[in-house]
Amino acid sequence: MTQVYLNGHFINQQDAMVSVMDRGFMFADGAYEVIPAFYQVPFRVRQHLARLDFSLSSIRIENPLKHEEWLRVFDQLLAQNSGEHQSIYLQVTRGVAPDRNHLWPKGLEPTVLVMTTPLQMKLDEDFSHVQGMTAITTEDLRWKRCDIKAIALLPNVLHRQRAEEAGADEAILINEQGQVTEGSSSNVFIVKGNEIATPPKGMPILGGITRDLVIELLQFDVNYQLSERMVSQDELHKADEVWITSSTKEICPVTILDKQPVGDGKVGPVWYETASRYQRYKQQLATEYRENPPT
Ligand code: PDD
Repeated sequence: MTQVYLNGHFINQQDAMVSVMDRGFMFADGAYEVIPAFYQVPFRVRQHLARLDFSLSSIRIENPLKHEEWLRVFDQLLAQNSGEHQSIYLQVTRGVAPDRNHLWPKGLEPTVLVMTTPLQMKLDEDFSHVQGMTAITTEDLRWKRCDIKAIALLPNVLHRQRAEEAGADEAILINEQGQVTEGSSSNVFIVKGNEIATPPKGMPILGGITRDLVIELLQFDVNYQLSERMVSQDELHKADEVWITSSTKEICPVTILDKQPVGDGKVGPVWYETASRYQRYKQQLATEYRENPPT
């Protein structure tokens, strides 16, 4: 039976209930995180918890758990639930209010939910099965604080649905200035010649943990020029390679964009190099953990 953590208790998922007066349900008033865990070890967890702190303080909810308490909850759920690799979903809402009022009452207890789902993840460098993804570009319909990982995801849901209906796997969002912001649930990189560019962190995009790691893995390599800069829709269409990144998708090559091939339409060499580094980094952490499991 799948276990979840709800407000201090580990319970069966089907018994986990939240009031209809929860402000998460009424107003999408809350924040969330998605953290991959390999061999039951949460990956880049300190970075995810730091982003959670940022999201919660930005919407003025006090983090109900200390970092060490979050880690204990993750460990217990990962051990109880099945899946060699899992993804952890956590959500904090402002809590259950006595009535529906945009203004929040003082002294609410935040609602805390943590759950895990099995994750099909590779930890090797065999990319023989890798196929490019398809993407469309579409207008970015979202608000001005996309740097907050807010549970209010209606525009993202509509973007993803639009991609699906156009036969594509992801929607790449274009702002009013004709610049790329990010994907419906991912960050975007382009490669042109030896330049690898990705939009800068700031309010129009979510500062992805995977994005940061990709930058870390590439930034001191003299073979590439890594730029955090605005990317126009035109540059996106003319790129040699386009990638999208997220904690659950890792780094995915996009080979068809708006029904046209990206570059030569094949998964590109810079992607292979970057994806190998990424997998090696994960393997190294997994090996360190297996040799030295935390006591
Ligand atoms: N989404 N941008 C948006 C809008 C996202 O929703 C996500 C991730 C990212 C990538 O962030 P990270 O590398 O930290 O996963 C960028 C998660 C996976 C989700 O909503 O399920």
